[in-house]
Amino acid sequence: MSKGARTRDAMSTVDDTGRLHIPAGLSVRDLSVEYGGVGALRAFHLDVDPGSVLAVLGPNGAGKSTLARALMGLVPAASGSIVVDGTPVGRLRPERRVRLGIGLLPDFRAVFPGLTVRDNLRVAFHREGKGAVVRQRIEAAYALFPVLKARAKLPAGNLSGGEQQMLAISRIVVSPPRLLIIDEISHGLAPGVVDRLFGALAGLRGSCTMVVIEQFISRAITLADDVIVLSRGVVVHRASARDVTAAEVESHYRLVDPDSLSRGGRLP
Ligand SMILES: Nc1ncnc2c1ncn2[C@@H]1O[C@H](COP(=O)(O)OP(=O)(O)OP(=O)(O)O)[C@@H](O)[C@H]1O
Ligand SMILES: [Mg+2]
Repeated sequence: MSKGARTRDAMSTVDDTGRLHIPAGLSVRDLSVEYGGVGALRAFHLDVDPGSVLAVLGPNGAGKSTLARALMGLVPAASGSIVVDGTPVGRLRPERRVRLGIGLLPDFRAVFPGLTVRDNLRVAFHREGKGAVVRQRIEAAYALFPVLKARAKLPAGNLSGGEQQMLAISRIVVSPPRLLIIDEISHGLAPGVVDRLFGALAGLRGSCTMVVIEQFISRAITLADDVIVLSRGVVVHRASARDVTAAEVESHYRLVDPDSLSRGGRLP
């Protein structure tokens, strides 16, 4: 589905600490998720090439977060399969999926509010090596978002919403999983902050495969290789990001739900 053919070798990158990043491919077949017997995702299928970026768009209640939770194992699938780099993961617990390289940046502020900014970063990177490596990773996070350095000794819960998102995303950018799922990182943030967060995601290209759930249609299209539009649990449109416009995506929102944009869909 991606813009160009990608081989595993072509997409792997080595960072400045010598760590090899190998993006994972994702294949989903006939995935259905129900809440109390009501379908939130129905016979969903998808292929995401290693190293490519898929934008998942759709109006409120379409099933986007349900897809993110199902990929991560946070809600059970009623049926179907999820395969990451040839490994069926659909029945694995979330922590096993994390170990296989799947990571979720959820639609809430994913920080430890009682820990300082620096300790949040220390916790995030503590498995990566000795103190010097951890310090190097923390400095890389500060370089990405200097405001985090200025707030290093403050509890993360005292940061603004945008700063908390920067903290959450800095951990991911400095140490990306092989398959990264991002659920509405822009939610409730000022446009300037959203630009910086999307800039950070663009910098991840080649280091990991991304599934980016978004309400900001244009920004998502700019970042992505491929686009799907979900509505009421089914895919109503699939396109290459090169060939689709925000207005076209919006038209699919309106087709299924004429009021969706006035309730929160955002074009910019
Ligand atoms: N825990 C739950 N229990 C029951 N129904 C749920 C639950 N979570 C979600 N749903 C329902 O499943 C459907 C899909 O919800 P989901 O949160 O996946 O949508 P979304 O596309 O992420 O929406 P939004 O853009 O508002 O975040 C909705 O109808 C929602 O009400
Ligand atoms: Mg959601």
